Amino acid sequence: MRVPLFDLTRQYAQLRTEILSTLDRVFSSGQLILSEEVVAFEREIAVLLGAKEAIGVANGSDALYIALKALNIGEGDYVITTPYTFFATVSAIVRNGARPLFADIDPITMNVDLDQVERLLQTHPERHRVKAFIPVHLFGQTCDLDRLASIKSTFGIRVVEDIAQSIGSTWTDKTGGLRYSGTVGDLGTLSFFPTKNLGAFGDAGMIVSSDPELAEFCRSFRVHGSRERYYHDVVGVNSRLDEVQAAILRIKTRRLGEWTEKRIAIAALYNRLLSSKEAPSERLVLPQVYTDRRHIFHQYVVLLKGNERDALKAFLEQNGIGTSIYYPLPLHLQKCFADLGGRPGDLPVSERTALRSLALPMFPELTEEEIEYVVERVSAFFAQHPKSANR
Ligand SMILES: Cc1ncc(COP(=O)(O)O)c(C=O)c1O
Repeated sequence: MRVPLFDLTRQYAQLRTEILSTLDRVFSSGQLILSEEVVAFEREIAVLLGAKEAIGVANGSDALYIALKALNIGEGDYVITTPYTFFATVSAIVRNGARPLFADIDPITMNVDLDQVERLLQTHPERHRVKAFIPVHLFGQTCDLDRLASIKSTFGIRVVEDIAQSIGSTWTDKTGGLRYSGTVGDLGTLSFFPTKNLGAFGDAGMIVSSDPELAEFCRSFRVHGSRERYYHDVVGVNSRLDEVQAAILRIKTRRLGEWTEKRIAIAALYNRLLSSKEAPSERLVLPQVYTDRRHIFHQYVVLLKGNERDALKAFLEQNGIGTSIYYPLPLHLQKCFADLGGRPGDLPVSERTALRSLALPMFPELTEEEIEYVVERVSAFFAQHPKSANR
């Protein structure tokens, strides 16, 4: 059996007729950029997340770049973030001329550790230059949004939430109210890269905000900093969302809730099977499910307790199972950020996680039979490979 890490063709087979007729409608309209479909899609995402405004842009990386620009982050500013994320989170800081300040991650959720964020804000020698914080709700699970709101107000810093992987993930506050990731910060940024839970047929992204001035800035910055055509207030960028992607994303948005439920059910099945008697769960840390948050399982990532991750990955690949490592090298150790002075050992939890994490196949159309096969092969690997001494 072959089980891919991710497969878009199954989803397309379900939506093909609807997508093709929508494409025909958009092509026939002659309106291809920032028109009716984009406006409607922006409204739908704003409503879905409970934000006042949504601004479609070309991709999630631009969304981050523009969001920081809206907050006037630049030369001389520091921005706290996680080293355990996709590159774009940090490159947006550097491309704006600011410096990233890394806080280590929580060893279980792999989200940024908010204790460490507070410590940086209280004790770092350059703390007075910290202007913003970018939490990334990694793999589809929010960090503590109550705590995030409190850090934002206590320290008076700006917050951009990177929700590229967590559209629709929620946090239940002390009063029982639901908060969506992306709506606690000043701005939230989304990616609709094809592999995301809500994925386009190409690149697309969005910024959400409930601050009208910030939203207005983003709206003009994405079209060369112009509110009225050919009159430019600032030097912006070209980062437009096109009608074809918006129209397809609107079709998919209507299924997002159902797909999310399937992802959650798949993760629950993995967790149950991997912690059954037949599976050596003591050699794995499985994703935790907390009652105060809704993890939408963009990825299903396990941690190996021993140093056998690469061997397990190779074994699963030989058995036709796709896996991936998110992320093999934390950002403070990347060559392009060498001038920031990061050294091995600086952020030990991130560095250890980079050596031990493994993403297993996860997409809504995965079948029970395929999940059982993956778990059976993981068990077979452990049966064939006795525990390593170096643990
Ligand atoms: C956490 C995170 N931030 C930012 C991005 C950048 O999004 P994009 O690929 O749409 O530029 C991605 C996805 O690729 C991501 O996973």
